Amino acid sequence: MYYPKKRWKAGRDILGIAGTTFQLHNGAQVVPTSGFEDVGFPLRVETPPQIWAYALEIPLTLTDPTDAPVTGPLLFEIDITVEQGSVGLAAATPGLGAFASAETFVTADAGPTKALVFAKEAQSCAALILRKVDNGKMPSVATLWGIRCAKAKDAWAEPALGPSAADPGATDVPLSELAAILGLGDTEQTEPAEAGAMIWRAFDASDRLPIIEADRLGAHLGFAEPFALAERLLEHPLTQWRMERDDALILSYLYAQHAPRRHLEFGTWEGFGAVLCAQSCGAEIWTINLPDGESTADGSAVYAQPVAAGTELPPSTPTFANSSGALYVQTDRGERIGWRYRAAGLENRVHQLLCDSTEWDTSGYPPEFFDSVLIDGGHQVNVVVNDTDKSLPLLRPGGLCIWHDFCPNPEALESSPAGLGVAEAIIKNWARWRPEFSDIFWIRPSWILLGVKRR
Ligand SMILES: C[S@@+](CC[C@H](N)C(=O)[O-])C[C@H]1O[C@@H](n2cnc3c(N)ncnc32)[C@H](O)[C@@H]1O
Repeated sequence: MYYPKKRWKAGRDILGIAGTTFQLHNGAQVVPTSGFEDVGFPLRVETPPQIWAYALEIPLTLTDPTDAPVTGPLLFEIDITVEQGSVGLAAATPGLGAFASAETFVTADAGPTKALVFAKEAQSCAALILRKVDNGKMPSVATLWGIRCAKAKDAWAEPALGPSAADPGATDVPLSELAAILGLGDTEQTEPAEAGAMIWRAFDASDRLPIIEADRLGAHLGFAEPFALAERLLEHPLTQWRMERDDALILSYLYAQHAPRRHLEFGTWEGFGAVLCAQSCGAEIWTINLPDGESTADGSAVYAQPVAAGTELPPSTPTFANSSGALYVQTDRGERIGWRYRAAGLENRVHQLLCDSTEWDTSGYPPEFFDSVLIDGGHQVNVVVNDTDKSLPLLRPGGLCIWHDFCPNPEALESSPAGLGVAEAIIKNWARWRPEFSDIFWIRPSWILLGVKRR
């Protein structure tokens, strides 16, 4: 959990929880008994087998030992051991209508855990819930050893910043919150940001990034068909997201419905994205990659895979040995760039550009040449800024600008250096780029930000 660790700490006053009964849902069981019970610990719960199904509800009647009113942010500490599968813990509003906190996940490999659940407002917290959050067919099994609740103090003494993007009920994300997650502060920056970027300004409460649920994508964009595979996106948490398995479903739908005639993709890599586009619609594709692949500051290849001993490779395969002599293929270099679209027989639909996108000369392309753009090359802030700035004049009005690796969910973002670069580029250039789009939103759940260019 991002917020409790970094922003919030428990105050001294431990509150009475005084829940008198718990309730089981969806066929969950408490071993050895079931039904309405007094809350006593340890409490061992077997969830239903379905992912996301609520299992246990512990109603809350919070009292302060000093008789002070219980308002403001709260921190719950839940001692728990998960024996099988994974569970989510969260506070919920009355009638379990919505989450009143971000959800904290605990998995079986975590051992005895002190799970922290942060809730922005005590008065919204009617119950704590536990539910199954893994995709396995078996029920999850967990033992609760005890629960403590304390008024939370804001470690940075800064009001109104909460984990909105982690709140399943949120319909938008305050940009001030995203800027704070990135450690950018929310005051005006005095130095110019990266090349091409404007000085950014302070965000106020009205600066918000809308969230569109994946299953509403078709209706929102006025497409003929709904996105039928939205449910499949619920099978994996955003922290374990994979482009090829998860975002690919959304991208394929977007390409099929938007039907670009000309599509531009920054970052070819092995050509998975180009194949996806070519097989989803009739587009002609332009895709750009560094000819020698991407390296870190110390010269190590970013995209590489180990070669198993005894494997015979064609002589043109780009390989290198690490300091211990182990052999690797550099998968974004030389003939490995785009091999998937060639293997799929789609070479005649793809224009492969080999250069650093920051040095790419776009002057030969007519304005508004492309119907869609996928920005998925270098994820450093300056490269995302460059690629977006080069795309905007080349994208036709009504065209789609798709940024990959954008996800405002704090926990997911924390685990992704690529995501941090994209989010920082967006935040720093919001005031400049936002007017270029009639619509711009995060698709939930995904690692995709989508902009529709203003007509
Ligand atoms: C995330 S991968 C692209 C994945 C691809 N879009 C797909 O869907 O399969 C990023 C690629 O961008 C390339 N890249 C990184 N920096 C670049 C730059 N400045 N110019 C062009 N390509 C770059 C890397 O070599 C890598 O192959």
